[in-house]
Amino acid sequence: MNACDIIFKTRRKQPLSYDEMKWFIDGYVKGDIPDYQISAWLMAVCFNSLTREETKNLTLIMRDSGETANLSAVGAVTADKHSTGGIGDKTSLVIAPVCAACGLHVPKMSGRGLGFTGGTIDKLESIPGFNVSIDFDKYVENIRTVGTAIISQSGNLVPADKKLYALRDVTSTVDSIPLICSSIMSKKLATGSDCILLDVKTGSGAFMKNTEDAKALAQLMTEVGRDAGKKCRAVITDMNQPLGHAVGNALEVIEAVEILKGSQKDRLYELCMVLTSNMLELAGMGSIEDCRKAAENAIENGSALEKFCEMVNAQGGDSSFIDDYSLLPHAAHKLEIYASADGFISEINSEDIGFAALLTGAGRSTKEEQIDHSAGIIMNCETGQQVSRNDLVMTLYSDSQQKLKSAAERAEKAFKITQEKPEKLPLVYDVI
Ligand code: URA
Repeated sequence: MNACDIIFKTRRKQPLSYDEMKWFIDGYVKGDIPDYQISAWLMAVCFNSLTREETKNLTLIMRDSGETANLSAVGAVTADKHSTGGIGDKTSLVIAPVCAACGLHVPKMSGRGLGFTGGTIDKLESIPGFNVSIDFDKYVENIRTVGTAIISQSGNLVPADKKLYALRDVTSTVDSIPLICSSIMSKKLATGSDCILLDVKTGSGAFMKNTEDAKALAQLMTEVGRDAGKKCRAVITDMNQPLGHAVGNALEVIEAVEILKGSQKDRLYELCMVLTSNMLELAGMGSIEDCRKAAENAIENGSALEKFCEMVNAQGGDSSFIDDYSLLPHAAHKLEIYASADGFISEINSEDIGFAALLTGAGRSTKEEQIDHSAGIIMNCETGQQVSRNDLVMTLYSDSQQKLKSAAERAEKAFKITQEKPEKLPLVYDVI
């Protein structure tokens, strides 16, 4: 086989066979095929896409490029949730303990944030002592006994995605539906859960800027997941505004705990309930209505918060912060931003907020960069709200005054104030 022939075929929209795809991807992982040939092929995929069969083959070849997790020792049905990436998305911190409190076992191997999107692992690392690298046997034991565990994805899982994603990042080939599908689904299949719920984001802060593309991605991912023998469902949800009020690691942990305490019943709470009930139903735990009731009860009766504490303690963390948030990292400086005019908040652009949070120190632009767990943004208002000039709309936190200044310039751009009340956007667009 020859790499040029493979690139040429994709350039001409001629489907690759399984063997051709395997030779090409395995050759890249082994270092036999250079970055420049894979880059050319990735660009051809961006322009010409792949067939469903090719996408499925690519996903399975990527899944099998490294180790896969065997969760049979859990001895029960397992379910995982994956979001395609958003701003202020702390739903995993809520959904995992709520599902566990309802009797569903939830294994989670999560990633760190990169660029303007956050990562569950960084959020959890703001909890004193929390270990995201417990060994695999302990991980399985915690899922079995506590009901959930969240760890950082092992370095040996899907090495093909590590190499390909890094290359896509620097060749402007990230936002291709088959490439996103194979990247996400190869990792989800390798992490071993029986059921996979996908939260496919659409809007200004998502890879998929419109609902048609989000639906196409959701359709493809669920088909590939089902073909691989998993129960799979996708919920398409709005990412035109940040999710919840907090963006930044320790700040988001606090917000997740407030949801678990039942003291915040807003859009974020609603999304957590929608995703949890779909996950429970997908795992065969009753009708969607019964699953919703079970999830709400777990918040009301405190069992979800208890599960969260159990999970934190079982991974070496100190859960006493849930009664005293000062035990979490807190920023040395803050900067308040006020409304520039009277009117309605018609837009809070999530991408701008994501970048502003990055500038406070809450995120990293390169994999090596250290993050400041205390940094981030609290939105003191929400889309649709009426404000008067000089009302507080946002508070920025950081360990550096200079970072706050640059972050504020970007954050201010995120807000649009208009005289008309904006139309309310749906939270959920579709379930596939
Ligand atoms: N998240 C991933 O893991 N891969 C992508 O390609 C996009 C989002």
